[in-house]
Amino acid sequence: MAAMGERNIPLIDQRTAGLPIPAAAPAPGQELTDTRGRPLHDLRISVTDRCNFRCTYCMPKEVFGADYPYLPHASLLTFEEITRLARLFIAHGVRKIRLTGGEPLLRKNVEGLIEQLAALRTPDGEPLDITLTTNGSLLARKARALAAAGLRRVTVSLDSLDDAVFQRMNDVGFPVREVLAGIEAAQAAGLAPIKVNMVVKRGTNAHEIVPMARHFRGSGMALRFIEYMDVGATNGWRMDEVLPSAEVLRRLQAEFALVPLAHSAPGETAERWGHAGADGRHDPALGEIGLISSVTRPFCGDCNRARLSTEGRLYLCLFASQGYDLRALLRGGASDEAIGHAIGAIWGHRADRYSELRASGRLDPHSGERRIEMSYIGG
Ligand code: GTP
Ligand code: 5AD
Ligand code: SF4
Ligand code: SF4
Repeated sequence: MAAMGERNIPLIDQRTAGLPIPAAAPAPGQELTDTRGRPLHDLRISVTDRCNFRCTYCMPKEVFGADYPYLPHASLLTFEEITRLARLFIAHGVRKIRLTGGEPLLRKNVEGLIEQLAALRTPDGEPLDITLTTNGSLLARKARALAAAGLRRVTVSLDSLDDAVFQRMNDVGFPVREVLAGIEAAQAAGLAPIKVNMVVKRGTNAHEIVPMARHFRGSGMALRFIEYMDVGATNGWRMDEVLPSAEVLRRLQAEFALVPLAHSAPGETAERWGHAGADGRHDPALGEIGLISSVTRPFCGDCNRARLSTEGRLYLCLFASQGYDLRALLRGGASDEAIGHAIGAIWGHRADRYSELRASGRLDPHSGERRIEMSYIGG
């Protein structure tokens, strides 16, 4: 672990370290909150570290080339292991599960996992909110099977409607029309309400903000603009490539009448704005947009998200360097009670608030321990 602070360690080394699991957990029956009073609500599960895109802000080709050492199959949690952990997380308050990757639809038979997760119930007997973040490339083929397995809705990433810009960003020449076909298939399969995520990079796709908003206005889908983040250690992030959400909003307001909307869920990442109708009030038929401003307006204060990596590490922040090895507990024969206790103890000790510290200047994004990659832990 001494090597963690060094800059030139291969990515694979970073993934082998595991933090010691704290012993003390909150008393049984007590509501689980972390050291900043934040409950555990949202579990994001990465089901593969592979992707068929090479988005320059996530998996740059120079790092994720043909010889990149992805996790071997035996390292991945099995569907049974994931479902067992999900059940134990539910007992600690989790009500929403998001499957991510890499690209989650590349995991063989991911529908089988969704079926198992859809059968889980909260202590009140309610089903979970199960969703998935995808690049959309395989959606046209898979949307119906995903819905049949019990998936409720999807979030699709799309950074531009212009093929030249989109292909430059996904860096594998993937065409816009196939993502749009995937979105259509998801709508037809009832995987709604669909959210579309656009990562905005100044000088790359910022001129696509208004065309994207025009395209999705009235479509029944929420378009969210995400500030380009300093996640991971490989994308060469620079502040001057971040277009602040305030500027995104200014450009949108020059074209559309928008009214602010209230948060729809605690811990929500996006600030919501609704398209207004002729009466100046939000017209739900015209839809809404979202601004996700992790860089300029961090939302750590009510962050209720835990992240489970493909190989069973629990990470408490998107910008963490190390996680807790739950797979070791699973494969070491630990009881449900012991694993549940560990989850409670880990969350109970959580203090993470990376984006807040970065925004307040108390942390330099270009120094410190090497952060996990988004392709490894998901969005
Ligand atoms: P719903 O589950 O549909 O409400 O989605 P969400 O609001 O959780 O958003 P989604 O999972 O689509 O996340 C959108 C984007 O926000 C991600 O791709 C990330 O770029 C960013 N994001 C999500 N969670 C976090 C977080 O905890 N911290 C930071 N800094 N960014 C996040
Ligand atoms: N900054 C902001 N968003 C990112 N995503 C991946 N990398 C970054 C980054 N550096 C987003 C993708 C996708 C989700 C999985 O995470 O656009 O919507
Ligand atoms: Fe793949 Fe999504 Fe990363 Fe792009 S952002 S490389 S689609 S995991
Ligand atoms: Fe949560 Fe970390 Fe994101 Fe803050 S930076 S919102 S603590 S995941």
